Amino acid sequence: MARRKKVYEGKAKILYEGPEPGTLIQYFKDDNAPTVAAPATREGKGVLNNRLSEFFMAGLNQIGVPTHFIRRINMREQLVRMAEIIPLEVVVRNFAAGPLTQRLGIPEGTQLPRPIVEYYYKDDKLQSPLVAEEHIVAFNWANQQDLDDIVALSLRVNDFLSGVMMGVGIRLADFRIEVGRIWEGDFMRLIVADEISPDSCRLWDMRQPERPDGTIPDPQPMADVYTELARRLGVLPSNVTHTTKPTLIN
Ligand SMILES: Nc1ncnc2c1ncn2[C@@H]1O[C@H](COP(=O)(O)OP(=O)(O)OP(=O)(O)O)[C@@H](O)[C@H]1O
Ligand SMILES: [Mg+2]
Repeated sequence: MARRKKVYEGKAKILYEGPEPGTLIQYFKDDNAPTVAAPATREGKGVLNNRLSEFFMAGLNQIGVPTHFIRRINMREQLVRMAEIIPLEVVVRNFAAGPLTQRLGIPEGTQLPRPIVEYYYKDDKLQSPLVAEEHIVAFNWANQQDLDDIVALSLRVNDFLSGVMMGVGIRLADFRIEVGRIWEGDFMRLIVADEISPDSCRLWDMRQPERPDGTIPDPQPMADVYTELARRLGVLPSNVTHTTKPTLIN
C-alpha cells in the first residue's frame, strides 16, 4: 500500500489523509488519553473502539443525525469526513457523576431533572476547563446559532445512545462528543465527529445480581467495559477478544 500522510497523532487515535479530498482515515490505538480513568494502554481496545464507534455513528447516520462516519476499512481504521473541529468537548449528563457531584454537592448517581449540556474548552495544557456560552461566543469558537444546533444535536445523540444502552442493560450516566463543521457548497453543517466509545461515555451496569434480600443493587461501573459493551451489542469481532496478535489457524 502507498505510504499515507499522517495528519495528526493524539493519544487514542492517528489521523491519516484519506483517499479523496475531504476525507480522513482514523486509526484507533490501544492507548488511553490521560483523562480516561483506566490503564494507559489496553491491548485490543483500539479494535473494539473502532467497531463501537462505527456501530454508534452508523446508527446515528441512519436516524438522520449527521456524523463524520463513512465506512470501516479494517480492524483498526475507519474512513471519515474531514471536519473543522469546534474546540469544545460537549458533555451531556443524565445522572450526577464526576466533577458535577463535587462542584454542586449532588450525590453520585442522582438522576438529573433533565439532561444537562456542558461545554469544556478543548485544550490539554489547560486541562479542558468548563466554559460558558458567553466565553464560546465572545472568543468566536462558535456563534449562538451554532450553539443552538450543538444542543439539538447532542440531545438527539443522547436519546439515541441512552435508548441503545438501555436495551442492553446499561445506564448512560454521561458522555462527551466533539462537533465539527463541514461545507456542502456554501452551506455549512454541524456533524458529530471524533469517536463514540467507552472512552467518551460513563456507563453503569444495570444487570446486577440481586442481593440476598431480593433488592437490586445500584448500577456499578461496567467491568471490562470495551469487551462487554461490544458483546452485548453483538459487534465483538469473533477472532478478537483481548489480543490483535496473529493467531495460527490449523
Ligand atoms: N472528522 C474529523 N475531522 C477532523 N478532525 C477530527 C475528526 N474527528 C476527530 N478529529 C480530531 O482527531 C483527533 C483525534 O485524536 P485523539 O482523540 O487521539 O487526540 P486528542 O483528542 O487531540 O487528544 P486526547 O489524547 O486528549 O484524546 C482529535 O484532535 C479530534 O478533534
Ligand atoms: Mg480525543
